[in-house]
Amino acid sequence: MSDLSTPLITTAHSLDGDSGSLADDVRDGFARPFKELPPKHLYDDRGSQLFDDICTLDEYYPTRTERAILEASAPEIAERTGGTELVELGSGTAAKTRVLLDAMQAAGNLQSYIPFDIADTVVRETAYAIGSEYPELGSVNGVVGDFEHHLHLIPPPPDDSPRVVALLGGTLGNFIPPGRHTLLRSIAGLLRPGDYALLGADLVKDPAVIEAAYNDSLGVTAEFNLNVLNVINRELDADFELDNFRHVAFFDTEQEWIEMRLRAERACQVQIRQLALEVIFEAGEEVRTEISAKFSPERMADDLSAAGLELVDMYTDEQDLYGLVLARPVADS
Ligand code: SAH
Ligand code: AVI
Repeated sequence: MSDLSTPLITTAHSLDGDSGSLADDVRDGFARPFKELPPKHLYDDRGSQLFDDICTLDEYYPTRTERAILEASAPEIAERTGGTELVELGSGTAAKTRVLLDAMQAAGNLQSYIPFDIADTVVRETAYAIGSEYPELGSVNGVVGDFEHHLHLIPPPPDDSPRVVALLGGTLGNFIPPGRHTLLRSIAGLLRPGDYALLGADLVKDPAVIEAAYNDSLGVTAEFNLNVLNVINRELDADFELDNFRHVAFFDTEQEWIEMRLRAERACQVQIRQLALEVIFEAGEEVRTEISAKFSPERMADDLSAAGLELVDMYTDEQDLYGLVLARPVADS
């Protein structure tokens, strides 16, 4: 890379009120009969830090399980894909990604890394850290954006060599089915014949294990969830009192997803001054802040095929807690 101490950072510029902005999502989500916010707003600097803390919790099995699967399978994935470029959607701090980058480097292929995330500071820090840890990398280009709106900011591949587009951690499960299908189709749109997608997917299991992971005993997940109210207070000049709300997480066995909600402990009114909006909460009323879908192999296969992708392999752990799915464009078969 030209000067690895200064990786390139590309930032999406959304205007307030754009579709997908916090203002737009708050206006729309709080006007619904059942209030709802998309989970991307959980990730300001504090939220990103809290997510990293969640990853270290005993109850939160997905991170360590995905890491173990990567440690066992990354050399094979690097070999099978021949990947030279890794595009990572929702990279966060790329803690586990190093396992994959190491394997791609050991296979002698690694040329470029593109961390893409909505969290500005995280993208910058990750791009700089990876740039300095992997001096052999030809380029690191961080992209700050929303992967529902800004995937076009990902630079085109420099040549014909294979690209791997990764979405790790189970983030695919944070989209309700229509959004998930759209995102998978967008990922397919980033792939040419010979390229691959690598998708982390938390698998269906005993609901008690899942519910424990989202109701941890230290209350870190609760703080992560409640922090979205701090984000709205700061960004939209609102006056949410966090003590009026409580974290709730439960597994919906029909939908096979866990939901995080914020429940109003008492009736309250909130002013969101920047939107000139007053929002009324009844006692016990809830706002859905995240779903996290858990996959069966069938659900994953259906989702892939609807997006024009085919399963190459699904790497799992011994207890089938978690799956790491390698897929490719159907026309490639
Ligand atoms: N891949 C990492 C982080 C997962 S946390 C891991 O496996 O540990 C989810 C990440 O996705 C966060 O870093 C968050 O900022 C990012 N994210 C969530 N919604 C997003 C969106 N719509 N567009 C871009 N990034 C998003
Ligand atoms: C990022 N995502 C896959 C996490 C999950 O498990 O759905 C976010 C999270 N929410 C609560 N804990 C962790």
